[in-house]
Amino acid sequence: MKRSVRPLFSVLLLIVVAATLTCRVATRRGIGLVPLQNEVGLAAKPPVRPVLNATLLKLAAVDLGVGKLKLEVEQLLEENFRSQGRHRSFLSSGRYNRIDVRVRTSRGIPVQLRSPQFYRLWLGFRRNLQGWWRNRGYHPDIMLDLVRLVRVPIDRHNGLVGSERRYSSCAVVGNSGILLKSEYGELIDGHEAVIRLNNARIGGFDGNVGSKTSFSFVNSNILHLCARREGCFCHPYGVTVPMVMYICQPAHFLDYTLCNSSHKAPLLITDPRFDELCTRIVKYYSLKRFVEEMKKPLEEWGSAHDGSMFHYSSGMQAVMLALGVCEKVSIFGFGKSVSAKHHYHTNQKAELHLHDYEAEYDLYRDLVERPEVLPFISDKFKFPPVVIYQ
Ligand SMILES: *[C@@H]1O[C@H](CO)[C@@H](O)[C@H](O)[C@H]1NC(C)=O
Ligand SMILES: *[C@@H]1O[C@H](CO)[C@@H](O)[C@H](O)[C@H]1NC(C)=O
Repeated sequence: MKRSVRPLFSVLLLIVVAATLTCRVATRRGIGLVPLQNEVGLAAKPPVRPVLNATLLKLAAVDLGVGKLKLEVEQLLEENFRSQGRHRSFLSSGRYNRIDVRVRTSRGIPVQLRSPQFYRLWLGFRRNLQGWWRNRGYHPDIMLDLVRLVRVPIDRHNGLVGSERRYSSCAVVGNSGILLKSEYGELIDGHEAVIRLNNARIGGFDGNVGSKTSFSFVNSNILHLCARREGCFCHPYGVTVPMVMYICQPAHFLDYTLCNSSHKAPLLITDPRFDELCTRIVKYYSLKRFVEEMKKPLEEWGSAHDGSMFHYSSGMQAVMLALGVCEKVSIFGFGKSVSAKHHYHTNQKAELHLHDYEAEYDLYRDLVERPEVLPFISDKFKFPPVVIYQ
């Protein structure tokens, strides 16, 4: 095939598949945690005053992967597909070695390289990536902004203007096989907002997982894979389900830019300041667990958890989002049990060790019992009550 007629995405994917961050495989997994006690057991413990260790706080604030990310963003922004010379050097650099020609636009139509359509897309990609990169940083108040950033655009899309309140109640539905043990469907659907995770199927599981989806929370890899898959083309839940997505690889802004225009409901990207907050919190819990529970020296944390790749799970950020946009938060389908399937909707057997789920579990426990100990969040933020259903 001549290069000039190769579909757009065969080129875009060269970039997109290059990075291998943790969310690469996150599509295939759900949330795996140690079994939780029931909510009554959790609530019975007396609250403890916050004692935050300054050493851990300081370490949790260091982003070991930022150098690599910066390089990746700079390289992406420098590329210019219009100029054939650059394009050639880019393709032949050896960094990108997989071509997937199955990819098409949201309507399944290949976009020709060096066409005006391609060029517009490329400019949009650069604009979106640049804006996101500029906006990064640590802002302890970002939790107070989540209603404006997420609820307001979704409400506006649904024809409800001006509701700058939190949802009265939210269900965050994870994908653990423990969901099959209970008929929580009606309970889940009874919440004002139902947040689902990473494209989990609900058809056929209504009694266990409910059928309502207010918005789905995904990592950008879901959209990226969907953009390549026959019959999915940009809309993993269909065009009408609002999506909130965190960017796990900067190159995924290509998928976003292409897919956003045809997604009828909002396709929102998490604010990078919110991503930063979640990163710090999970890292703090991971460090804390490493020294306090596992009794290991702090210096070994980086190698034990591949420090520069360390990432929160989608479930964790969805719960954090719910804290910001809901008056009450109910968590379903988080946790594992020897007697339950790993995912309710797949046959995946094993745990993938990409995140520190034990640490995230410690965090959820604190959310239920004593949210005031969560680090990095502004004192102005008021935590909603959290209940975990097992
Ligand atoms: C904070 O944690 C580190 C690592 O566990 C420990 O060495 C240090 O003594 C702790 N500091 C305080 C004030 O507890
Ligand atoms: C995404 O699409 C919506 C609807 O077409 C549009 O309003 C919004 O500006 C787009 N966002 C970006 C960043 O292009």
